[in-house]
Amino acid sequence: MSEHRESESGYLEPSAAREPDTFLDGKVAVVTGSGRGIGRAHAMRLAAYGAKVVVNDLGVATDGSATDETPADGVVAEIRAAGGEAVADDHDISTAAGGEAVIQRALDEWGRIDVVVNNAGFGRPRMVFNLAEDEWDDVIRVHLKGTFCVTAPATRWWRSEHKAGRAPYGRVVNTSTGLLLMAGAGQSNYTAAKAGCLAFTEAIATELAPIGATANVILPGARTRLAAVGWRTARNAALAQAQFDNQSPVHIAELVCYLASPYAQFISGQAFTVSGGLIQHVATFQAREAIRREDRGWTVGDLKGEVPRMFGAGPHRADPPPKEWSEQYKAKGGSATAPA
Ligand SMILES: NC(=O)c1ccc[n+]([C@@H]2O[C@H](COP(=O)([O-])OP(=O)(O)OC[C@H]3O[C@@H](n4cnc5c(N)ncnc54)[C@H](O)[C@@H]3O)[C@@H](O)[C@H]2O)c1
Repeated sequence: MSEHRESESGYLEPSAAREPDTFLDGKVAVVTGSGRGIGRAHAMRLAAYGAKVVVNDLGVATDGSATDETPADGVVAEIRAAGGEAVADDHDISTAAGGEAVIQRALDEWGRIDVVVNNAGFGRPRMVFNLAEDEWDDVIRVHLKGTFCVTAPATRWWRSEHKAGRAPYGRVVNTSTGLLLMAGAGQSNYTAAKAGCLAFTEAIATELAPIGATANVILPGARTRLAAVGWRTARNAALAQAQFDNQSPVHIAELVCYLASPYAQFISGQAFTVSGGLIQHVATFQAREAIRREDRGWTVGDLKGEVPRMFGAGPHRADPPPKEWSEQYKAKGGSATAPA
């Protein structure tokens, strides 16, 4: 991997310098919200691996309010200075028209779209009892609806390519949050939106499989302005002093480039946490424990004994099951003491 710049404070800055293995040569990527933070690292690293990049950013504040900043321009300049190709785009990806326009920008500029990284977003953290309707709507809109709005037109182009007999490339990488693994108190709007991004990814992965396109989702952790809240500020400062800058967005971008690469053709519908040197493959929606009976449904009388067992509490499994159960099981040739 090419050398990233380390600033005086030890912070690792992403490099857009061309890598020896340009596995994305000839490919076109759209990265939403890539004027700053994690998205900026994605755009620069995708360019380093050979992709032409639409650097989309609306230039809003961390709560989504408008500013007169145009951060996409700076990232485009950095990519071009390193010899790569990029264009800036400032559409609002949380609308269908904005999403269409971003994908159209790629098609107008380079005649194709291969990789979509849905990354744009902002937060309005508040406890549910203080959460206003617009705080709920805006956060769901930018993360969840925005992910749909950009993905859908790209998939339409891939499908038309497929129908025309040309095998599309087709990579979607969505962004969720590790808060889903930590309950996310104070962020119910945000975690609900991000859980939606995860469910959306799993569903479209199945839909895209027949045309050879993939969709995966990351749960990132990095030092950005969005993550600069409360306890995280102190923790990030401490982590930046670690052996390597493990809160740099650089590390998130490398996983995204991998998921966008031909090497990851066989990976779809998967979720990964990524922060510093730690990547975890996340089990998403899975049934854990089950109780089942086939003769009738459960009653409260049954459930008050059975449900606690699902949590490892209550009467021990070795307790004899109801008599009629054992008999039913024995009749089927199963164990008398361990109903399925
Ligand atoms: N930083 C973390 O540790 C962390 C953790 C979990 C998830 N995430 C997610 O990663 C993504 C990137 O976050 P970040 O920390 O880099 O934040 P950031 O604020 O540094 O960057 C987000 C960018 O998105 C842009 N944006 C916001 N709304 C937009 C819209 N409607 N259209 C186009 N651009 C828009 C903003 O202008 C901003 O430049 C977000 O989806 C965030 O929820 C970040």
